[in-house]
Amino acid sequence: MKGIVLAGGNGTRLHPVTQVVSKQLLPVYDKPMVYYPLSVLMLAGIRDILLISTPEDLPLFRRLFGDGSSLGLRIEYATQTEPNGLAEAFLIGADFIGDDSVALVLGDNIFYGQGFSKLLQHSTAELEGCTLFGYSVRNPQRYGVGETDGAGKLVSLEEKPVAPRSNKAITGLYLYDNEVVDIARTLRPSSRGELEITDVNTTYLERGRAHLIELNRGYAWLDTGTHESLLEAGQFVQVLEHRQGVRIACLEEIALRMGYITPEECHELGWRLSKSGYGQYVMEIAEAIAGRELDAGGE
Ligand code: DAU
Repeated sequence: MKGIVLAGGNGTRLHPVTQVVSKQLLPVYDKPMVYYPLSVLMLAGIRDILLISTPEDLPLFRRLFGDGSSLGLRIEYATQTEPNGLAEAFLIGADFIGDDSVALVLGDNIFYGQGFSKLLQHSTAELEGCTLFGYSVRNPQRYGVGETDGAGKLVSLEEKPVAPRSNKAITGLYLYDNEVVDIARTLRPSSRGELEITDVNTTYLERGRAHLIELNRGYAWLDTGTHESLLEAGQFVQVLEHRQGVRIACLEEIALRMGYITPEECHELGWRLSKSGYGQYVMEIAEAIAGRELDAGGE
C-alpha cells in the first residue's frame, strides 16, 4: 500500500499565523504538525509516501524529510497549485499510486491511542473497497458525517451537514483500493468548487464497498483547525509526554520499532538533534532497544 500526506491549503482560518508558514509545519508542542499524520502511515507499515503541498511550502517539507531514507522511507513530493479539494490528491498522485492501494491522511490530523498501530495494520491487510474511521464529536457540523444502522453498517455520508444525522465525524484518514483513482477522475467540483473526498466515499458506499471503523473513546482524534484547538492539541501532547516520559509521533522511534532503521542509525539521528530533549529521547530509545550504550558516531 502507498501513502499520501496531503499538506496543502492556505490555512486561512489560522491567519496571520499561517500567512507565511504552512499550517502543517506549525508546532504541536515539540514537533511539527506533519509528524503526527506521517507517523500514522509509518505505524500502518507504509513506507512509500507522497507528500503533497503548495508550490511555496513544498521545499520546506523537502528540507525537513529529504528523500525519507534516514527514516527508512521513500518520500516523494508533488505540488497542488490551488486547494481544489482533498480528492485531487488521487489525480496528482495517480502515477505514484500506480496499481496499488493507497492510504490518504490529512496533514493536520492527529490520532493517538493504544493499539492504533495494530488496528491500522489489520485494516490495511483486510482492505476491501474503502475504509473510513469515525469518531464521535460534539460539533459534527464541521466535518464529514457518517450515519450507521443498528448493526454499525455505514448507510449515509454527508459533508458538513447543517443538521447532522449522527455525531460521527469522518476523520482525515482514508484507506482505498486502486479504484479510487478512476473514481476521482469522474468527480465534478462541488458547490464550493472542490473535488470532495465525501463524494469519493459516497461512490464506494453506493457500491456497497465502504466500511467504517469507529475509534472509540480510548482514542484521541484532535482538531487543529482553530487557534484554540491547536493549543489544546499541543497541551494534550505535552501532558501525555510529561506524565509518561514517552513521545507521541516520534518518527525516529517509530522507524526503529517498525524495523525500518537500526538502533545505530536511530542513535545517529538523535545525536544530530541532541541539544533538544527530543534528540536526547531518540538517543535513549536507541540505546534501550540496542541494550547497550551507543557512540555518537553510530558504532
Ligand atoms: O479533518 C477531517 C475532515 O477533513 C473531514 O471530516 C471532512 O470530511 C473533510 O472534508 C475535511 O474537512 P476540512 O474542513 O478539515 O477540510 P479542509 O478544507 O480544511 O482541508 C483539510 C486539510 O487539507 C487542510 O489542512 C488543508 C488541506 N487541503 C485542503 C484542500 C481543500 C489541501 O491540502 N488541499 C486542498 O485542496
